[in-house]
Amino acid sequence: MPQEHTLLIKEGTVVTATDEYQADVFVVDEKIHTIGKNLKVDAKQTLDATGCYLLPGGIDSHTHMELPFMGTFASDTFETGTLAGLHGGTTTIVDFVIQTKGDTLGSALNQWHEKAGGHAVGDYGFHIAVTDFNEKTKAEIRDLIEKKGVPSFKAFMAYKGALMVDDQQLFYLMKEITKWGGLLSVHAENGDVIDVLVKESRAKGECSPRYHALTRPPLCEAEASGRIIDLAYQAGAPIYIVHMTRWATQRNQKALAETCVQYLLLDDSVYSKEGFEGAKYVMSPPLRKKKDQEALWQGINQNLISAVTTDHCPFMMKQKEMGKEDFSKIPNGAPGIEHRVELLYSEGVEKGRITRNKWVEMIATGPAKTFGLFPRKGTIAVGSDADIVLFDPKKEQTISAKTHHMNCDYSAYEGWKVKGKCRTTLLRGTVAVEEGVAKIGKGFGQYLPRNKFNPTH
Ligand code: URP
Ligand code: ZN
Ligand code: ZN
Repeated sequence: MPQEHTLLIKEGTVVTATDEYQADVFVVDEKIHTIGKNLKVDAKQTLDATGCYLLPGGIDSHTHMELPFMGTFASDTFETGTLAGLHGGTTTIVDFVIQTKGDTLGSALNQWHEKAGGHAVGDYGFHIAVTDFNEKTKAEIRDLIEKKGVPSFKAFMAYKGALMVDDQQLFYLMKEITKWGGLLSVHAENGDVIDVLVKESRAKGECSPRYHALTRPPLCEAEASGRIIDLAYQAGAPIYIVHMTRWATQRNQKALAETCVQYLLLDDSVYSKEGFEGAKYVMSPPLRKKKDQEALWQGINQNLISAVTTDHCPFMMKQKEMGKEDFSKIPNGAPGIEHRVELLYSEGVEKGRITRNKWVEMIATGPAKTFGLFPRKGTIAVGSDADIVLFDPKKEQTISAKTHHMNCDYSAYEGWKVKGKCRTTLLRGTVAVEEGVAKIGKGFGQYLPRNKFNPTH
């Protein structure tokens, strides 16, 4: 008989999306076996969680490890990026496979499996971004959903001449995905109009990073969000808008949205920073105004937002400098995976903007439900994977690129003081990170085939 791995977490306060209570949690092998008060069990390993919240491991359903983009690659690998996530309480990512035009979706998926398999430290699943919808790719959708564990896809309404697809492709794509029980997510910005604005700006010699934001105005996002919601209604398809920065009206339809930590916490004043500093925040959509942040916090509390993700897509400053003379060549994206859980606690819960239950819903339960991982992931319940974070709400830290684990030479939150820290992160019952020290390494992460989209979740 193989020896069981048993672990008892004592005296913690379990926080889920709906409840909060004192309990011990007993883990057998990779799963949560028992939850209860003063458990009398024989455990090989015991963790004292006095004073800590016990949260389900965070799920960041929007990341781009090693993304080939704008002539370079995102600087975190599956190894460095998922490990940084584990340091900050994120145990699972759902990363975006990107189809190269002319290639099949299946071969793109295989390439991403190669990058992640044997490398990722945390668990991972994949969405597939469809950049070339045709009869051949259409024929692949069912198999991907039913046999390959990929029920979610992405389409770009922006990045004209690169990743963007037109309305007809979008329409066909959402119909096909819906037919087999999947979910389409979209990057909603009007790529055609942005292309004109960028050309006009460059022609006037307006080339510094701040013009990135000025050439991607809120209207382009509002128009594309409205358009995709209407198209989805017409197609009878559920739709999910990624990295939403502003509010879009919705009728009674399954239109879901996520926002990202940066849109809640940072605003467009960073684009006026000295010299090339603004390049650190060049991402799409760009950062908006403070008033938009308030609307997003409200959206969270009104149950209009399903998840807070990061769109983690880091580039070193050397890479950002590809656009030193022309903002449109600055690789779009910023690092974020490591501090999502802690920042949302510090700025959200500690400042009274959201409850602890809402925090857990945004960082774990919401993404698990939307993306077919619930209840294996995203909650603390008997039978769920023992992905558990011991979160110390009293511990303070200062964020810095000097101490973070992401492979990026700057932090978008440099010098921010944060209240609350992930003390210990467990992944499938194994201590992954304890007090800032990694206990597992390369290849520990497993691929997570996911279930079909469940509209009743
Ligand atoms: O600026 C961003 N968001 N970069 C990553 C690609 C994307 O659009 O999600
Ligand atoms: Zn995007
Ligand atoms: Zn993204």
